[in-house]
Amino acid sequence: MKTEQQPLLSDHVDARPVTTTDDAVAGRNDIVQLDPDHPGFRDAEYRARRNQIAQLATNYQPGDVIPDAPYTQDEHNVWQTIWRALGPAHQKHACAEYREAIKRLEFAGDRIPQLREVNAKVKAISGFRLEPVAGLVQPRVFLENLADGVFLCTQYIRHYSTPLYTPEPDVVHEIVGHGVTLACPQLAELNRLFGEAVKRTESSEALERLSRVYWFTIEFGALRENGSVKAYGTGLLSSAGEMEEMHEAELRPLDLPEAALQQYDPTHFQPVLFCADSFKAMYETLRDYLLRW
Ligand SMILES: [Fe+2]
Repeated sequence: MKTEQQPLLSDHVDARPVTTTDDAVAGRNDIVQLDPDHPGFRDAEYRARRNQIAQLATNYQPGDVIPDAPYTQDEHNVWQTIWRALGPAHQKHACAEYREAIKRLEFAGDRIPQLREVNAKVKAISGFRLEPVAGLVQPRVFLENLADGVFLCTQYIRHYSTPLYTPEPDVVHEIVGHGVTLACPQLAELNRLFGEAVKRTESSEALERLSRVYWFTIEFGALRENGSVKAYGTGLLSSAGEMEEMHEAELRPLDLPEAALQQYDPTHFQPVLFCADSFKAMYETLRDYLLRW
């Protein structure tokens, strides 16, 4: 069993499981590979459902209605536990733009929202579309899709034995983190600009630098609001533990060329964060940087 002290969320585009189309076809009945130390590794029913949910994404064609995932009551209970932790944490630690955006999405506290419902709302607000993926995405594919206003989302939820911990991005991170921020027009625009910048990026070294900027802003960005430090990064906003720990981090002024060179470890709470002076300063600095990239 994981404890509160262990990382509550390790996610980054680079941490998303990658496989090839051939692998997906070859192992149609077992397309999700879990590590032996994954909380759901010994749960045959959970693994079967992970495969079933991955299969929904594999069969999905852009433009289709997103098929609903068959969550169990245990999994809805996981959502309830997370939601009870996140509600107060958002009131304390989330930036005002996020708190406005999450109201627009009207999540229920008692069940996992389906991607189909979240997609309809996000699309109406910012034009961004959510599309299900089994997790089989190369970082470049994931990032380039942002240029077309498409956010590729995993649909499964973490194992019920560890409601406040997930070793990989799950539907909670995708919708509470990314889904909500994409319902904020400025953050949606920044995601789109990231995708366009990646499309103009050829070398893997430059892609690496841009991925780090994505990590320190879209995933783990902090900013000042009326003298307090608040979160606008999705990795912070989808984890009550990460939001608490944010205040223990070394907060550096938002310097994107520096962030592009800053190493990080996605499996621990982040010891270094880049903190903008305000939401407006973050938006303008990041927007200019991406347009000039
Ligand atoms: Fe993420």
